[in-house]
Amino acid sequence: MRIIEAKNYEDMSKKAAEIIAAQILLKPDAVLGLATGSTPVGTYQNLIKKYEAGELDFSQVSSVNLDEYKGLSGDHDQSYRYFMNENLFNHVNIDKSRTSVPNGLEEDAAKACADYDAVIAAAGGVDLQLLGIGGNGHIGFNEPAEEFKVGTHCVKLTESTIEANARFFASIDDVPKYAYTMGIGNIMAAKTVLLVASGKNKAQAVYDSFFGPVTPHVQASILQLHKDAIVIADEDALSLAREKGVY
Ligand code: F6R
Repeated sequence: MRIIEAKNYEDMSKKAAEIIAAQILLKPDAVLGLATGSTPVGTYQNLIKKYEAGELDFSQVSSVNLDEYKGLSGDHDQSYRYFMNENLFNHVNIDKSRTSVPNGLEEDAAKACADYDAVIAAAGGVDLQLLGIGGNGHIGFNEPAEEFKVGTHCVKLTESTIEANARFFASIDDVPKYAYTMGIGNIMAAKTVLLVASGKNKAQAVYDSFFGPVTPHVQASILQLHKDAIVIADEDALSLAREKGVY
C-alpha cells in the first residue's frame, strides 16, 4: 500500500485524476470501478477537464459502480446512477451502455447481487477501483462488522443513515432502507485500488484503516493487504496519523 500526501482537496483530486488518466492511456479499454459521494467529485471534474482538452478518450472504457440504493430508479436524483451521469458520464465520451451500477429496481436482492457479480465478471474484472472512505472506515456500503463480505450483497441502512438522507426525499418513508453494494472480495479483486480521503473528518478513519490492525471493524483496513493499493489523502486527512507519529 502506498500513501501519497496531497496538500488539500484540489491537490488530492488532481493527483487522483492523473492516476486514472494514466490507467486509461495505458489501457484504453480499461474497466474502472467508480464511487459516488462528495470526495470523488473533484477527481471527476479533473477527468472531464482532461477529456475537454483532448487528453483523454473514454470511448472504450467500461465502468462498474460500487453501490446503489435498493428501490431507486436511475432517473431518481438521489440514485447513484443519476449521480454518475451528472458528475461524469454526461460530460465525457463514455458509452453509457458500458457503464454499470447495481440495479436498484430489482426487488429480488439475491438476483440483483448475483447479476451484478456476473456483470463484473463479464467485464473481465476491474482494472482500477476508485474508493472514498466513510468516517467509520466503510468502503462502498461495507460497514463495520464481524466479517468481511465477499461478493455483492444487500445491506440494511442504519437508522442514522436513513435519517441523514431524509432531507433529500419528500418523506422519511420514501428514503431507501436497503442498498446493494460490492463486497470486500469484489474490491480486493481489482488490480489497482485508489482511495481518496480529504478533511479532518476523515483523519480517524485514515489512521485506523492504514496505521492500525486489519479488522472487519474497520473495513478499509483490508486494503493494507492489497498488492497495489494507493491512498491519496490530504494533510487534514493525515493529521491524526502525523500527530501520533506514525506518518
Ligand atoms: C460511495 C460509497 C461510500 C463513500 C463514503 C464517503 O459510492 O460507496 O463508501 O465513498 O461514504 O463518502 P464521502 O466522499 O461523501 O465522504
